[in-house]
Amino acid sequence: MQMLQNKEDVYILAIESSCDETAAAVVKNGRTVLSNIISSQIELHKLYGGVVPEIASRKHIEKINYVVEEALKTAGMNLQDMTAVGVTYGPGLVGALLVGVSAAKAISYGAGLPLIGVHHIEGHISANYIENPDLTPPFLCLVVSGGHTHLVMVNDYGKYEILGRTRDDAAGEAFDKVARAIGLGYPGGPKIDRISKEGNCGAIHFPRAKVNENPYDFSFSGLKSAVLNYLNSCEMKGEPVNQADVAASFQKAVTDVLVHHSLEAVKEHQISKFAIAGGVASNSALRAAMESACMEAGIEFFHPSPILCTDNAAMIGTAAYYEYLAGKRDGLDLNAVANLKLGER
Ligand code: KG4
Ligand code: ZN
Repeated sequence: MQMLQNKEDVYILAIESSCDETAAAVVKNGRTVLSNIISSQIELHKLYGGVVPEIASRKHIEKINYVVEEALKTAGMNLQDMTAVGVTYGPGLVGALLVGVSAAKAISYGAGLPLIGVHHIEGHISANYIENPDLTPPFLCLVVSGGHTHLVMVNDYGKYEILGRTRDDAAGEAFDKVARAIGLGYPGGPKIDRISKEGNCGAIHFPRAKVNENPYDFSFSGLKSAVLNYLNSCEMKGEPVNQADVAASFQKAVTDVLVHHSLEAVKEHQISKFAIAGGVASNSALRAAMESACMEAGIEFFHPSPILCTDNAAMIGTAAYYEYLAGKRDGLDLNAVANLKLGER
């Protein structure tokens, strides 16, 4: 099927391979997703209780051509119909990132398309534009994923100011570690979310950490230790552990802090729109708590569908579109940057 195209339309072929999802998408004019193909490696990494970088890189190599072809096919388009190629070049696992970056460079060179390197977090934030056509900056966004916990002021497309970040574990990392400790397996976030529905979130009081130097920074390592100490003391006393109660109480401690910091920032910056993004943004308790807090504060609340919260290439296509409009172009010397900072070029 060949699609009729308006010469003004911008079609981005986007690629994402920063962690354990090999993904490609075609996005039209930044907000219309024509295809969004995700090949997840979760089943493979489950065996090891977490992502094994070397295995991730090898699997990306096996899948990258398939997801790109599938993305074009599903969109009913060819490489010649694309305007540019967008690719995540950091932060993430360097070997994993290199697969996507190399593929994007080859496509850019072979098809003569401009190349646009995208920051992974910018992609997560941009996922909010896809289903919310009216969302425009400025807004505040809480990015909570397996590797990041950032409270970001989105002043304009591509213009970010980080108000707060985690000092230690990312929120998703804390979910995964606690899930492992209570025997739920990997990936822990969705499992804690599910089992918490059967538990009492007030059963155990876990700490809510404050970081004195910056009220918007987060710290989750103390909370993780508190859960481990609780489990140890139950074991020593020979008391049974109620998995659902521990999960629900832990989840409540995380969401309380995320909601508190976010709403304080909303008030201080007098912002009227608030969004969440990243894998943990799928968490049902977090979404519900944020929604009611935003409603109470009289501000608009935005969140992507779960499929757009997890790592995917549609969000990279959206971010690349705004970078394309701003004139960003990368050369064939674009490299993977494992610890790329948001807003860095
Ligand atoms: O954004 P993402 O797919 O990858 C990274 O960029 O890190 O996030 C993955 C993280 C994992 O830690 C996973 O456990 C967590 O998101 N996650 C959740 C839920 N779904 C995924 N955490 C809590 N509740 C969920 N429903
Ligand atoms: Zn991510």
